[in-house]
Amino acid sequence: MLAIVVAMGSMLLSAAGLISILPPSAPQLAALAPDSTQAQPLDSAQLAAAPAAIDSVTMVASIQGKAIFENNCAQCHAINEVVVGPALKDVHTRRSIAWLVPWVRNSSKMVASGDEYAVKIFNQYQKQQMPSFQLSEAEIKSIMAYIEVESTLTAYNNTTGPLPYPR
Ligand code: HEC
Repeated sequence: MLAIVVAMGSMLLSAAGLISILPPSAPQLAALAPDSTQAQPLDSAQLAAAPAAIDSVTMVASIQGKAIFENNCAQCHAINEVVVGPALKDVHTRRSIAWLVPWVRNSSKMVASGDEYAVKIFNQYQKQQMPSFQLSEAEIKSIMAYIEVESTLTAYNNTTGPLPYPR
């Protein structure tokens, strides 16, 4: 099943003529620098800050995750700024999947259970309840894949970067 999804994703990517789903190399990143008319090799500080490689399974999952995010989450969340709820940049590193899945499915239940982080963030956002979502674990993981790709790659190119989907 996963193999099929990966294969289909790869086909979509190549059909769209997009960049390979392998993590970008330093020269590729340099070539994709925001001002691509004057692409310079990255300096050592930029290289040190270069994004960690994102594996191809995550890249492919992020395509589905983007659609689910836009349909269910974007009214309240963005990656880089607070909307109604917190900015979700790097949330995949702040919280484990084991926390994120039950949170997205029923955050109030987690707050009610006394989960320390859940209570803290709920209070921080004026006790505004996030809706519950009937999403599968795989769907929630794909949203997190999208958040990972966006958190990692946007700094390098805000328009046509090495993203697995068109902006
Ligand atoms: C109606 C607005 C709303 C929608 C829609 C919404 N959220 Fe939230 N979300 C919030 C609020 C508000 C918080 C802050 C916690 C609280 O008040 O319960 C939050 C918190 C979170 C957190 C914790 C963030 C952190 O920094 O720890 C995650 C993760 C999250 N939401 C994911 C999602 C995902 C994924 C979706 C879509 C499936 C979604 N949210 C849809 C309002 C929303």
